[in-house]
Amino acid sequence: MIDIHTHILPGLDDGADSMTTALAMARAAAAEGITDIIATPHHENGSYRNPASDIQLAIWNFQSELRTEGIPITLHAGQEIRVNDDLLGAWDRRELLTLAGSSYMLIEMPGHEMPAKMREVVRGLADLGIRPVIAHPERNRSIREHPRLLSELVFLGAIAQVTTHSLLGDFGDRIKKTAWSLCRAGLIHIVSSDAHHVERRAFSLSQAYQAISDELGPGWTEYYQNNAASLLANETMQTNPTIVKESNLIDKITRMFRH
Ligand SMILES: [Fe+2]
Repeated sequence: MIDIHTHILPGLDDGADSMTTALAMARAAAAEGITDIIATPHHENGSYRNPASDIQLAIWNFQSELRTEGIPITLHAGQEIRVNDDLLGAWDRRELLTLAGSSYMLIEMPGHEMPAKMREVVRGLADLGIRPVIAHPERNRSIREHPRLLSELVFLGAIAQVTTHSLLGDFGDRIKKTAWSLCRAGLIHIVSSDAHHVERRAFSLSQAYQAISDELGPGWTEYYQNNAASLLANETMQTNPTIVKESNLIDKITRMFRH
């Protein structure tokens, strides 16, 4: 399995706080069947600043520790970038990383409002040939109250990542309900752990895929896993044939959230 959003690099943000913790997380991931991890430290979220060069150095160090310890995980560099007015300027200054060197970039909204410039940022990235991946939209209050906002971003070229812990109910019922509704509406393209810790917020990726197979059918697990592989290979993601046609999508979402 491939995990595209994690906070496993030691000492860079509120994820792994030491090399020992990071190695414990990597062992747990490998035991679950995860083979590839994209490390995505927070960047510009008000608490942490991790420009591209710092992350690349940390990846190199941690990958050599993994090799020394014999842990069969391939690491890839990434970043979880808080949407801000200077995002496109930071890209020009080479401070930002895409996911594993692909044309996909992980961006994060604050927990409450959708940033005023969100559409502008999505369009601006798309114009540069970068596909924004919106981290855990189910955890944003505006999206929970107005899921149509996410469908608009998807129509502008964004894709969306749901967090395993949201699907499994670890953030409460409201976020869980939104997470599953967004999946059913076809607005989620990829599943990831957003792992921060070996116990409190671990990976739970195999558990989430099992829940998806049970709840939505194994075709959906295959769809999400294929999309993660496509992202890592920098290929275009496939459309799930079971997902409603785009022309019906907004109506369907509105109905789903009304009931
Ligand atoms: Fe994250």
